[in-house]
Amino acid sequence: MCGIAAYIGEKNAYPIILEALKRLEYRGYDSAGITLYNEGKTTIYKETGAIVQLEKSLGKQSPKGKIGIGHTRWATHGAATAINAHPHHSQDKRLSLVHNGTILNHYILKEDLLANNFSFYGETDTEILVNYLSHQQKKENLNLLETVLRNAGKLEGRSVFVIHDKQDPEKLIACNLGGDLFIGKGKGKQILLCSDKNALAGYADKVLNLLPGMVAVIDKHCHIFDLNTQTELNPEWDKLKLNSEALEKGTYPHFMLKEIFEQETAISQTIKHLTKTSPNRLELVLEPYRRTITRLRKITIIACGTSWHAGLVAKHFFNELADLPVYCEYASEFMPNDVGSGDLVIAISQSGSTADTLQAVQAAKDAGATIISICNVDGSAITNLANVSLLTKAGPEIGVASTKAFTTQLAALLLIASQCGEWRGYLSPNKKKALWQELKNIPIKIKEVLRSNPKIAELAQKYQTANNFLYLGRGTGFPIAMEGALKLKEVSYIHAEGLSAGEMKHGSIALIDEKMPSLFIAPKDEHYDKIMNNLLEIKARHGKIIAITSETDKQIEAEADDIISIPTCPKLLYPFLTVVPLQLFAYHVALLRGTNIDKPRNLAKSVTVE
Ligand code: G6P
Repeated sequence: MCGIAAYIGEKNAYPIILEALKRLEYRGYDSAGITLYNEGKTTIYKETGAIVQLEKSLGKQSPKGKIGIGHTRWATHGAATAINAHPHHSQDKRLSLVHNGTILNHYILKEDLLANNFSFYGETDTEILVNYLSHQQKKENLNLLETVLRNAGKLEGRSVFVIHDKQDPEKLIACNLGGDLFIGKGKGKQILLCSDKNALAGYADKVLNLLPGMVAVIDKHCHIFDLNTQTELNPEWDKLKLNSEALEKGTYPHFMLKEIFEQETAISQTIKHLTKTSPNRLELVLEPYRRTITRLRKITIIACGTSWHAGLVAKHFFNELADLPVYCEYASEFMPNDVGSGDLVIAISQSGSTADTLQAVQAAKDAGATIISICNVDGSAITNLANVSLLTKAGPEIGVASTKAFTTQLAALLLIASQCGEWRGYLSPNKKKALWQELKNIPIKIKEVLRSNPKIAELAQKYQTANNFLYLGRGTGFPIAMEGALKLKEVSYIHAEGLSAGEMKHGSIALIDEKMPSLFIAPKDEHYDKIMNNLLEIKARHGKIIAITSETDKQIEAEADDIISIPTCPKLLYPFLTVVPLQLFAYHVALLRGTNIDKPRNLAKSVTVE
């Protein structure tokens, strides 16, 4: 969680850090702060709320300094107050530090500091961290780099920090103990550090991914050290190819709406990226594991949130296309004993930096499993951990509620499942080809679904006052029901449950009355007749019904209060189409309820704490 931005160069650091923090705000937005160093003085500015609050409270002051560190926070340790906001300073105010992640052994470090006459102004592990480093620095009479190199290895948990020392003020030290930090070099020896590569757009033309286990000393140059060997490294810098338009809302009022509409292109680009050449990228990267794949008896999928829902849909892909059972686990509940050598684990993560997922992937890897990651962020932590990394090409997803990343994950998973099916002799090459062709037609069908946007906005108007919703589906419709409910909860703060339509009668049906709307995922697939039964069960109890269906017939027209039609497609592909109206519905309800759609309360896009 949290976003870090730091600058060193010839320009005034404040506006640059401020802009970078705005780009990183999706990572947390309950408080923000900046330290600036100017002519022998360090000044820390902090404010609760979004970055714009910090900007407002500084007003026309335009703080000065050519070196600075900034932070946007998602509270873990300590409430979202200005005192707990980063940067934090050491007791003697010499060191100033911003931090992303958690220090698990903070209690032990604090006890030692208290015994050494340190006192604390706030409740964060970050304040403990900066004082711990300060204490070690003084005790051993070290410079800041030596302090970090000797002591960072004693910190437990995944984290990234950037630190400034007033007594050696022309440099910054950055340390990655598990998380993301990118160093961008711009013109005129400017260096900008950011938690997300995309936030460097416009400021840098070269980029270095500071990987876990690396420490950087940044002055006008940049020196990288390995924390384990304590030796200097000479990593390659990449060219930064970024389009800053992708980071703007353009003509859309919200990123969420923009990203829902971008699904058409995002899916096409993902398919193209994975299948363009012959043999295609997918076959090439999976080829070394072909033997493993043909012998597999099961696949384990690990993910969180929306990515986990993509994994649940993929259960059906692998079962039906490759005759492979799938165990789809919440990353935070993953049990490493469930996998071993010869097993295949697919880790799905939009950001590639979700701490729970990284932790589970590491455990699976340690247990001997082969890891395939499906990720939207090139160079993120998960892509470095996985044996095979497949990228979705959704482009930057800024809205906290994930939309286009989900459907691109589905596309990648369908391609992998059918490739596995072909290699396992379960899916004929012709059937695979035909399915891939149908998949390539999906973006056009999504465009058709998007035409229902005005109608869905009207439905949102009609149902916006409901306090609870049920989302019901069977087969692939069940995870889509969960995903639809999650979208509504995330952006409109309305309680919603995504349930298996068959299971609903075993308890949740007690909730139904005339105030409870149920959204049915009811495409014309093999579950349609049973779904109709479930729909009638709700109707008999006076529940309101919205049905998403592919071919309206008299029965559903007569029974549902409202219908959203989607085009027909092969049954395995319906999730691509049924999820879109649910995303739009959540968006419009949230709009009417006046919530902060792109940055809903309490959430963050990258959850880098466990
Ligand atoms: C957070 C986001 C969700 C996302 C989940 C997993 O909770 O708010 O939208 O689905 O993390 O993120 P990942 O980047 O691993 O897909």
